[in-house]
Amino acid sequence: MILLEKVSKYYPHDKVPALDEVSLHIAPKEFVFLVGKSGAGKSTLIKMLTREEKPDYGKIMVGGIDYDFMKKRQIPHLRRRIGVVFQDFKLLPNRTVYENVAFALEIVGVSNAEIKRTVPKVLELVGLSGKEKKFPGELSGGERQRTAIARSMARQPKILIADEPTGNLDPENSLGIIKLLEEINNFGTTILVTTHDEKVVNLLKKRVITLQDGKIIGDQKDGGHYDLDGSNIKIQKRSLGGPAPAPAPAAPAASPVAPTANVNPEPKDEKKSSGEEVLEKMRKAKTEEEAKPVAKRRKFIH
Ligand SMILES: Nc1ncnc2c1ncn2[C@@H]1O[C@H](COP(=O)(O)OP(=O)(O)OP(=O)(O)O)[C@@H](O)[C@H]1O
Ligand SMILES: [Mg+2]
Repeated sequence: MILLEKVSKYYPHDKVPALDEVSLHIAPKEFVFLVGKSGAGKSTLIKMLTREEKPDYGKIMVGGIDYDFMKKRQIPHLRRRIGVVFQDFKLLPNRTVYENVAFALEIVGVSNAEIKRTVPKVLELVGLSGKEKKFPGELSGGERQRTAIARSMARQPKILIADEPTGNLDPENSLGIIKLLEEINNFGTTILVTTHDEKVVNLLKKRVITLQDGKIIGDQKDGGHYDLDGSNIKIQKRSLGGPAPAPAPAAPAASPVAPTANVNPEPKDEKKSSGEEVLEKMRKAKTEEEAKPVAKRRKFIH
């Protein structure tokens, strides 16, 4: 699970924050689109999760790890739990498809036997069987992105984060990549993906979170639309205070939907915990976990 509580980020020399008190709860196994205009703060939010950047204020917990208590040496461990995919693939150009995926396992100390078992399976999952010996330069854009996804999935992360994975692809390949992410999600991996691809977002009808000027201005739980300025009055919204499936009240078409996070206390949904409750549970789990003898500690990834 992913939890952000009033997270703010100021880059040096910037007077306005790139993220402004962002609160967000993503449950395990959710599929979430993060949308927003250029400069809205999408990549910054993702960098908070991967620890590429640190927040100036607020709290972040991912997969049972409270970032406030994370030691530097735990960062590689965190990156094993979170798979990350980028717009520009970031493949090793002098290594084949097989080697690119195998390398991701080698560097975390997976045995050769395990690598030999895992890589073909992952390549099959992403539809690249038969392309093992090709170099990135010999692949189409879609195939390159599939290789990058295979590489990040090889370690079987619980969370896969993709920052504009379709940014360099044509519409057909874009849809293919998003469908692949959907398939991976069906296996139980949490997916968070940023995109500018309106068609794909509207087709998949997943949860859609909209950022504007570093703030969450829309959080549509199901059947979400691509809606950059929050002006779609039919949108259902959800915030850290708990899921709120109640439709937004009718409003004049011109009036923008007010930001919900931290503003509107929303009715509680029996089925899902609110962010606050989850936070509390996780704190408790962490304390209990630490009280156990090391040998008995179990991993609590979600
Ligand atoms: N490394 C950085 N140093 C300084 N300012 C930055 C840095 N990265 C981002 N910013 C600023 O933070 C704001 C948010 O940028 P961010 O990259 O998160 O936007 P984005 O929503 O991902 O945009 P895009 O859709 O263009 O990728 C922008 O105003 C940007 O100029
Ligand atoms: Mg970006």
